[in-house]
Amino acid sequence: MPVSGIIWILIALISWSQAWSATPEELEQGRTIYERHCADCHGMDGRGDGTLAASLSPRPGNFVSAQTSAKSDQDLLKVIAKGRPRTAMQGWNDRLSEKEQLATLAYIRSLVRFSRSATPPPPTR
Ligand code: HEC
Repeated sequence: MPVSGIIWILIALISWSQAWSATPEELEQGRTIYERHCADCHGMDGRGDGTLAASLSPRPGNFVSAQTSAKSDQDLLKVIAKGRPRTAMQGWNDRLSEKEQLATLAYIRSLVRFSRSATPPPPTR
């Protein structure tokens, strides 16, 4: 095979890996973990309205918000792994594997996609 062919395969592989998104199995795993460990505070739909939320200060944020959506995976994974000091959000590193944390984040991201937007869609013309 000519060298250019190998380069094309490499480029294809790199763009494929960057387009990685969670598989249905990973999302399902993320949902199970989320509902068991996170929903009490963050709410079943990620809106920060779990049964424990009212008693917390600061309150858990709303995942389905532009504010959280705009944060990078790295930022959010760091909070999930290490927690946030002086809040009820503790780190999960000793209870969830890295893969489980990734699956849970993928599930959180999917909540945003399936929720209705608070702002009306932009006009089509
Ligand atoms: C005991 C309540 C509680 C539980 C359980 C909990 N969280 Fe949190 N979480 C919080 C609070 C409170 C904050 C907001 C801290 C702040 O205001 O900075 C937070 C913040 C976060 C953030 C950062 C959001 C942002 O926009 O910066 C992420 C991500 C997160 N939690 C994920 C999780 C995941 C995943 C789980 C389950 C594995 C979980 N949390 C379980 C209370 C909780």
